[in-house]
Amino acid sequence: MGFLCSLTFSIQFLLLFSSSLFTNCFTLNDLTSTHHHECHQHESNALLSFKQSFIISKSASYNPSSYPKTLSWSPSTDCCSWDGIECDELTGHVISIDLSSSLLYGSMDPNSTLFSLVHLQSLDLSDNDFNHSQIPAKIGDLSQLSYLNLSQVGETTLSGEVPTQISHLSNLLSLDLRSYILPPLDNLMINHLQLKVSTLRSLIQNSTRLEQLRLNYVSISSSLPNTLTNLTSLQKLSFRNCELYGEFPVGIFYFPNLTSLNLVQNQNLQGTLPASIGNLTNLAYLALEDNSFHGEIPQSLFRLENLEHLSLSYNFFEGSLALDMFLKLKMLNGLHLSGNKLSLFSQNRYVNLTILPPIQRLELSGCNLAGEVPTWIMNLTTLSHLDLSRNNLQGEIPYFFFRLENLTVLELANNILEGQIELDMLSKLKKLTVLGFGGGNKLFFLEGKNTSNVTIPSQIQYLELSSCNLVHFPNFIQHLQELTDLSISYNSIKTIPSWIWNKTTLQRLEIFNNLLIAEISPLICNLQSLVHLDLSSNNLVGMIPSCLGSFSQSLRFLRLAGNKLIGNIPQTYSKRNALQFIDFSSNNLYGQLPRSLVNCRMLELLDVSHNHLNDSFPFWLQSLPKLKVISLRNNKFHGAIKCPSNCTFLKLQIIDLSQNDFSGNLSSEIIKNFRSMTLSNTSDPAHFKDDVYYLQHSLIDIELLSFSMSNKGVVMDYLGVQYLHHMVAVDLSCNKIYGEIPDTMGSLNGLVVLNLSNNMFTGSIPSSFGKLSNLEVLDLSLNNLSGNIPQQLTGLTFLDFFNVSFNNLSGPIPESGQLSTFDDNSFKGNNDLCGIQLVKKCKDHSMPPLPTPEGNQDFESGSFFKSNWMVILIGYGGGLLAGLALGNAFAVDVYRLLKRIF
Ligand SMILES: *[C@@H]1O[C@H](CO)[C@@H](O)[C@H](O)[C@H]1NC(C)=O
Ligand SMILES: *[C@@H]1O[C@H](CO)[C@@H](O)[C@H](O)[C@H]1NC(C)=O
Ligand SMILES: *[C@@H]1O[C@H](CO)[C@@H](O)[C@H](O)[C@H]1NC(C)=O
Ligand SMILES: *[C@@H]1O[C@H](CO)[C@@H](O)[C@H](O)[C@H]1NC(C)=O
Ligand SMILES: *[C@@H]1O[C@H](CO)[C@@H](O)[C@H](O)[C@H]1NC(C)=O
Ligand SMILES: *[C@@H]1O[C@H](CO)[C@@H](O)[C@H](O)[C@H]1NC(C)=O
Ligand SMILES: *[C@@H]1O[C@H](CO)[C@@H](O)[C@H](O)[C@H]1NC(C)=O
Ligand SMILES: *[C@@H]1O[C@H](CO)[C@@H](O)[C@H](O)[C@H]1NC(C)=O
Repeated sequence: MGFLCSLTFSIQFLLLFSSSLFTNCFTLNDLTSTHHHECHQHESNALLSFKQSFIISKSASYNPSSYPKTLSWSPSTDCCSWDGIECDELTGHVISIDLSSSLLYGSMDPNSTLFSLVHLQSLDLSDNDFNHSQIPAKIGDLSQLSYLNLSQVGETTLSGEVPTQISHLSNLLSLDLRSYILPPLDNLMINHLQLKVSTLRSLIQNSTRLEQLRLNYVSISSSLPNTLTNLTSLQKLSFRNCELYGEFPVGIFYFPNLTSLNLVQNQNLQGTLPASIGNLTNLAYLALEDNSFHGEIPQSLFRLENLEHLSLSYNFFEGSLALDMFLKLKMLNGLHLSGNKLSLFSQNRYVNLTILPPIQRLELSGCNLAGEVPTWIMNLTTLSHLDLSRNNLQGEIPYFFFRLENLTVLELANNILEGQIELDMLSKLKKLTVLGFGGGNKLFFLEGKNTSNVTIPSQIQYLELSSCNLVHFPNFIQHLQELTDLSISYNSIKTIPSWIWNKTTLQRLEIFNNLLIAEISPLICNLQSLVHLDLSSNNLVGMIPSCLGSFSQSLRFLRLAGNKLIGNIPQTYSKRNALQFIDFSSNNLYGQLPRSLVNCRMLELLDVSHNHLNDSFPFWLQSLPKLKVISLRNNKFHGAIKCPSNCTFLKLQIIDLSQNDFSGNLSSEIIKNFRSMTLSNTSDPAHFKDDVYYLQHSLIDIELLSFSMSNKGVVMDYLGVQYLHHMVAVDLSCNKIYGEIPDTMGSLNGLVVLNLSNNMFTGSIPSSFGKLSNLEVLDLSLNNLSGNIPQQLTGLTFLDFFNVSFNNLSGPIPESGQLSTFDDNSFKGNNDLCGIQLVKKCKDHSMPPLPTPEGNQDFESGSFFKSNWMVILIGYGGGLLAGLALGNAFAVDVYRLLKRIF
């Protein structure tokens, strides 16, 4: 019975999804009886022709029990007997096609003969690779369909817009268009299918009997239509990561038969949980993680005896929850409450600990838990996944953790726990794969003298030992055969043992903020699986191993900043490398920027600031399609800032060329090429998605990722996402650029920071600057600008910092708007300038009251930008890394941060 699919999955990735892709088929009729009719010839032909449009490819399906069902399809046999085909007993028409996980690869023909099978009631094409095809509009011809499954695993399957004709399927009971994006890519937020909300509306209007509607990772980008509450028969509703926003229709919580509701990762989706939720006695799966739900969690929720999975993490829920409330949730195995405004488990009521639910995953990160680790955790003997990171837990690390025999994940980073961890204790956790101790805790990690009789917990894949008072590398790491992630930053380690270069399973190696001396061994290039390498903020000397640009096809993040490295930047970068983030800043590197950097097609950030590089303007970087940030600050770059012919920096948002020897005119052509600095290009959501993508994929610890622009006590911090999303900056300060400031500069209306100070610009301030409506910092000081300050600048309402001092400006300082909030430091050194801020008042002037300066920043005289702005990336020891292993923990942190920022 091929149709009744109940395939069992053994591999772990699919277990991460609590509701499984392949187990939701509908039973149609009784399929056991033999059929009396032979297949209709035209239907047989249609199926054969459909079969022929695909090839069989082993990589087209993910399900380990996939097999090519169409191989059994032969013209000489009755099509009703073919694998995956069911016919109606009476009429002989094909009514069901199940080609799920059938290793089909190829494009879906919009005119496929498949759509002539108008008697079809069930169509399952899930888990094949349709090579980015669109869903054909003719799907709407199959008006008898009650079951349609086009769900897909991986990245390259169906894409484009879901045709409106899907709403013609008025008999649908189940529609599944989910994408399964596998961790760690599930945080990608690249949705391949789009569903217009008008199509969704029509679907709701026509397919009123829907029982299952699953659209995970289909981008809807809208609020949900209220008519959704008409679909009262719904049992399973999943809208994970559909870019939904607005108010979630509360009526859905009244659907009597609801068993599963998944709204994960729609950050701007708001709502509350009504008390009536307690009436949903069949509810087994409630996942609201990472949205903007608020209010109290109704008491009635805690009487849902069938609830197995409750994830409310990363919302704005408040109120207090006591342990005894959970006792009725007898089936609960996943409880995720991280990152809310809840007060948890603080009441001291008696709880009969023998009847705690069989919880396997407990996530209580960032829950303001204080005091000692709650002892009832020891009675959750079924725990496999425990995340208590980012709380204020204190006291000795309890020994009972090491008796929870099924623990695979133990995350305790960023608490204030004390005491010693001995290797011996770890060895008791035979299944442990993820261990996070670092960040904030005051733990001492001890290997013990005699490790010979200690069983090494060799299955550990992820190990976070930041800030663990280590003075050398723990030796046991050598024996972790499956180690993929090692973070051992913020310790006092001086040397890297040579065995580390044999750990070829490593994908992430972080040893930043230690006391590493010596050279970087070229053996580092053995680590060919590395994705993320960070050795910054040490005392490394010598040259950068020349292989470092080309040793790994997977390396995305390469950071060696803040060392004492000398010599050239590595010269070779293999074609199709994955580098996204290269930071060699603050070393003593010299020579030119290697032209082979053009092979880094994925590059988004290049920071070589604070070195001794000597080169001309690297216009050739314009060929890198994703490059967002270039910082050449404080080197010996020289010559004009220009391109030989037309060039376009497609994605460039931040360019810092300050403190170099650039000279010549600034041509309006080059400015025009900074297209992504215009508002229309910076504020679109796709851009934003890229940033999150970027942050996640470069595995940056964004919590402390900041981009500071500082001078004399004034620091502007742009945290994490802002740094890449909001920040649009041009800094050309402290060079020898002359000529007029091109008027076209005013077209870069996404600019937040514009610093041209300390050059030799002449002419007037372009009035087009009045169009830079996002501008927060404008520094034109220390040039030879003349003429008036354009009245248009008064419209720059976000301006926090403005400096035109030490030019030859004349006339009155515009009095209205933001400019009036700046004091004389912004204007002095211009002999013919007059205004209320200056000693020289303008003639014939009735003085308006001086507005109180907003923020009242007390700038010292001189150029704001004489010294640095820099990109500071401070790695942070703790929970984030687990995201890699755990699927979405990392994403969640990103979203948390987003919410804090916006
Ligand atoms: C599909 O068939 C119609 C007519 O049968 C034709 O007009 C159209 O061009 C075909 N489309 C494709 C993509 O083959
Ligand atoms: C409902 O389905 C019918 C065909 O079954 C179609 O003609 C009609 O346009 C659909 N209505 C909407 C609103 O999509
Ligand atoms: C669906 O809901 C809307 C209001 O939300 C209502 O006006 C309409 O009549 C409902 N349609 C059906 C078929 O119940
Ligand atoms: C809920 O399920 C029951 C039992 O299957 C069924 O009788 C009832 O009609 C369903 N309710 C709705 C609103 O579909
Ligand atoms: C639960 O449903 C009952 C009817 O079955 C209703 O009377 C009651 O108001 C509902 N409870 C809530 C809290 O809505
Ligand atoms: C705790 O629950 C268990 C199992 O239901 C029961 O046997 C035991 O008597 C309870 N203990 C107390 C003190 O109520
Ligand atoms: C809780 O766990 C501890 C340690 O395993 C055990 O001593 C105690 O009996 C357990 N309590 C209950 C009620 O199961
Ligand atoms: C640990 O996991 C194993 C295998 O899944 C299971 O048989 C065992 O009962 C678990 N132990 C506890 C205490 O739940």
